[in-house]
Amino acid sequence: MKQASAPPDHQRLLIIDFGSQVTQLIARRLRELNVYCEIHPYQKVTDAFLAAFSPGAVILSGGPASVIDQGSPRPPASVFALGVPVLGICYGQQVMMQMLGGTVERGGGNAEFGRAYVSATEQRMPLLEGWFESGREQVWMSHGDHVSAIAPGFEVYGTSPGAPYAIIGDAARNFFAVQFHPEVHHTPNGARLLENFVRLAGFTGDWTMGAYREEAIRKIRDQVGDAKVICGLSGGVDSSVAAVLIHEAIGDQLTCVFVDHGLLRQGEAEEVVTMFRDHYNMPLIHADEQELFLGELDGVSDPETKRKIIGKLFIDVFQKHAGDVGGAKFLAQGTLYPDVIESVSFSGGPSVTIKSHHNVGGLPEKMGLKLVEPLRELFKDEVRALGRELGLPASFIGRHPFPGPGLAIRCPGEITRQKLEILRQADAIYIDQIRKHGLYDEIWQAFVAILPVKTVGVMGDGRTYDYACALRAVTSIDGMTADYYPFSHDFLGETATRIINEVAGINRVTYDITSKPPGTIEWE
Ligand code: XMP
Repeated sequence: MKQASAPPDHQRLLIIDFGSQVTQLIARRLRELNVYCEIHPYQKVTDAFLAAFSPGAVILSGGPASVIDQGSPRPPASVFALGVPVLGICYGQQVMMQMLGGTVERGGGNAEFGRAYVSATEQRMPLLEGWFESGREQVWMSHGDHVSAIAPGFEVYGTSPGAPYAIIGDAARNFFAVQFHPEVHHTPNGARLLENFVRLAGFTGDWTMGAYREEAIRKIRDQVGDAKVICGLSGGVDSSVAAVLIHEAIGDQLTCVFVDHGLLRQGEAEEVVTMFRDHYNMPLIHADEQELFLGELDGVSDPETKRKIIGKLFIDVFQKHAGDVGGAKFLAQGTLYPDVIESVSFSGGPSVTIKSHHNVGGLPEKMGLKLVEPLRELFKDEVRALGRELGLPASFIGRHPFPGPGLAIRCPGEITRQKLEILRQADAIYIDQIRKHGLYDEIWQAFVAILPVKTVGVMGDGRTYDYACALRAVTSIDGMTADYYPFSHDFLGETATRIINEVAGINRVTYDITSKPPGTIEWE
């Protein structure tokens, strides 16, 4: 059985996942309310698990299955005997009704997808405080089946044209259920409903970053004792916050290894080294391995081959330098909560590898190291909040993500030092433009890619034959899907002019307006 990982001194809420695309958003909304919660797939939630987890409330998520089908997913019946509030959402509502004595029917004319409006019945409950104040509420529906009769003890609090039992509850037992998704932004007042639910369940909102920091430090000290820890520092937010937190806990028992593979942005290596070694006084090995990486990448143009070479070299180099630390027993990583949530799959098939992401996977076993992962319970924006709590500069915390393989995957085709230098200069101007226009924080990620094509231009009275580049800027929540950022034409024109005037080697600038999917954020 998987052990619950929450610190015991927090009230905790259990989200049982039935495979909805938006289950993570339930956790996001609850974390925003300072409520500690964990998502676990329904297959894992046994009676023993429930007893060990000891939740203060339970939420049953949505999911793609139909409760009418044989063998459809269910929570254990003991969920309803814990004596704690339970909220069912969409599929969670239907499974709750089916298990407690109501009935569910197949869609027919009642399927609803997208925006719908729920009206209140006369029943007004604490669950609905702040709801229906100006009439009906907009909600987001996504259901084929619907509840056709509610279980004994339940009353109707809200209805929509397609869902007569849009909001139902049994106030005596504190069981509630909604047909729509309160966790998504298209249900504008949904967070309020979730807040009412957790307040009803007695949650006081004790999950704060200050408390988390103290606890994490205590846990790191308990885990590590007086052993040595090594940490691969990439200069990204996650590994930086992990390093600062661990350093605060165990001081110089921690050594960071920063691998410069020659594929970093302008000034990046100096920035990272100055901050961690000089500002934080952290033992830091600056492994300058540019020659090694660029040498091995010479003449390579296939994207996957590039990624594999970089991944392998990174592990070799890390291992070599980590050996210098001597006797390290732990490896620190900036693993986040979305990386550890086990996904619920009904199709069962393996997913296609789009790109081989490189990380230090495999190292712990190879080197006989145990993992220290102090950010395992946090979402990205919580890591940023923790970074602020730890005093990391705002400019560092708000940085756009940067991929492990660095500029290699922004240089389609063969990588040359000349191309990398041109790319660095263009990228620095582009980011400078974005900052000057106050757009940096609105954008998930922005960068330049240098294209493997030269084009003809005219500058002054002369002919030029130089590289073309592409500007990329996307908005995204998690990097899984993305849309291009709608810069003004003035911004694009001004930026293109600056790049062409200031960077020798580029005479044409394009803007990439591909969303993800069908594109990806990086070019390789
Ligand atoms: P794609 O290009 O797959 O990128 O749409 C999604 C996000 O992941 C980042 N990315 C990586 N990050 N190692 C990383 O640490 C990698 O190998 C890697 N490849 C892509 C990318 O920058 C974007 O934020």
